[in-house]
Amino acid sequence: MIKQAIIPLAGLGTRMLPLTSVMPKELLPINGKTNLEYILEECLDAGIKEFIFIISKNKLSIKKYFFNDNFYKKIIKKKKDKRIIEEYKKIKKYQKMIKFVYQNKPKGTGDAVLKCQRFIKDKYFLMLLPDDLIIKKNCSKEMIKLHKKTKGSVIATKKVERKTVSRWGILSIKNKKKSHFEIKDVVEKPSIKKAPSNFAIIGRYILSSKIFNEIKKLKPGKGGELHITDAIKNLINKDNKFYGNIFKGTYLDCGTLQGYINSGLRINKR
Ligand code: G1P
Repeated sequence: MIKQAIIPLAGLGTRMLPLTSVMPKELLPINGKTNLEYILEECLDAGIKEFIFIISKNKLSIKKYFFNDNFYKKIIKKKKDKRIIEEYKKIKKYQKMIKFVYQNKPKGTGDAVLKCQRFIKDKYFLMLLPDDLIIKKNCSKEMIKLHKKTKGSVIATKKVERKTVSRWGILSIKNKKKSHFEIKDVVEKPSIKKAPSNFAIIGRYILSSKIFNEIKKLKPGKGGELHITDAIKNLINKDNKFYGNIFKGTYLDCGTLQGYINSGLRINKR
């Protein structure tokens, strides 16, 4: 069973400036709900029981958003507003499920994952990148199903336009079925010439705890960061099974200002 989800939240959000100069991008609302809560709801619905938030000292407002009890208690005592009481209940539910770890230097997704090692209890866990919203069909649920069937690691994927491959981790595929395939190799942000396909990694991963040792062995890759993609590549080379789940839902890129604007419009039309 996959019960734990880790969520890297320490990024600076520079692609979203000026909106992110004071406010973490994950707390920006999309149609009345924070970006992060879409991610949490997907997890709850997929059976996740515990969240590990990787934050930084610059993003303590994320902690405050979920742990602001005195504020809520005072308001509720004064106003007895039903809506606020319901919202507070939801927050209390999340409180019991969230743990925090800190990544104060932006050293990449690999480094962020490594910070969670001491909290991971089971052999497999889920990771979600909050920039990537997937709506209409629960992608995490689909991936957990594929993991149960294959007993391997799973990465969410979809075809992207070939001219954009250098923005993504790209998968090399074998034994393609309708909704999934085995991953032969991965490469982080390749040039169009070097891309083995146009199946991109979208921010959902089911990883095994073997990933931690692999990250420890990594040398900094593109941009001087430790990339989770490179650790995955090494595990695949050592014959660990990874599968690409071609998800059915609609992908919304919330990591750029234009993407965020489009996401608001798309979610409105749901
Ligand atoms: C990260 C991953 C990349 C993946 C992408 C999905 O890149 O490194 O492999 O395709 O997320 O959003 P980033 O968005 O941090 O540049």
